[in-house]
Amino acid sequence: MNAVLAGRTAAVTGGGRGIGAAIAAALAGAGATVAVIDQDAEGAKRTADGLGGVAVAADLTDAEQAERAVQDVVDALGAPDVFVNNAGILRAGDLTTSPVDDWDAQFAVNTRAAYLSVRAASRHMRERAAGGSIVVVTSNCADTPRMDLGAYCASKAATDMMARCLALELAGEGIRVNTLCPGSCDTELQREQWRRLGIGPERQIAGDPAKFRTGIPMGRLTTPEDVADLAVVLASDATRFVTGQSWHVDGGQTLS
Ligand SMILES: NC(=O)c1ccc[n+]([C@@H]2O[C@H](COP(=O)([O-])OP(=O)(O)OC[C@H]3O[C@@H](n4cnc5c(N)ncnc54)[C@H](O)[C@@H]3O)[C@@H](O)[C@H]2O)c1
Repeated sequence: MNAVLAGRTAAVTGGGRGIGAAIAAALAGAGATVAVIDQDAEGAKRTADGLGGVAVAADLTDAEQAERAVQDVVDALGAPDVFVNNAGILRAGDLTTSPVDDWDAQFAVNTRAAYLSVRAASRHMRERAAGGSIVVVTSNCADTPRMDLGAYCASKAATDMMARCLALELAGEGIRVNTLCPGSCDTELQREQWRRLGIGPERQIAGDPAKFRTGIPMGRLTTPEDVADLAVVLASDATRFVTGQSWHVDGGQTLS
């Protein structure tokens, strides 16, 4: 990809592995200097070291740690031009029998940590008064009901709406906020879901009428790079007049 982010700074939460690590690499590949925030200190360091970036360890569900993590990024790189909220967890299970803890844990990371992270980042971006781009990774099931993923869907739907409201609040200051909604991607998060449900990638691609899943029309899983490439576009000036929108990267998985 061209150096469309040359001279820019970016931060990626949950960049220690999976989709976040791919996004960090793609942003760096497009010329940005990248900070990686993750509760997994080693993962954050591994990704950041590979990109000549900055690593910050924090549990982003904690308000103080989230504030501190973003402050550390600002101290190292200045207020970021690009902030990608990507950290997330999934605990598959149905709504009636899953432990309440699973609901709380998914809302703590997918919704609360997302709010705390973009809240802190947008304040610094506002103070700097030079615009910017916030990308919030949700999921293609933020707007499509899924069996066995009720709490996850709800946590991502809430975050999607939070991001759209934030887009409205920040539009006048040239700070854009868009959501990136991946489909099933072969990462540790997804593999844990497959283990819990006793299925695998083939079932995901083919679909499962018993679970009202349509499969993936384009015939393969999403790759982290599919998501990362769109993150670069949303971070760049190519989308300078685009805000408050949801972008699905799922090979048609949620077309019907
Ligand atoms: N993999 C998929 O199929 C898929 C599909 C749709 C959406 N997503 C979303 O994409 C994002 C990335 O998912 P992934 O598949 O790469 O997951 P992953 O489990 O591979 O990576 C998630 C990263 O987030 C970090 N993290 C988790 N909780 C954190 C916390 N409290 N504070 C700081 N860091 C934390 C983890 O340490 C990890 O490095 C998530 O928001 C996920 O919901 C994934």
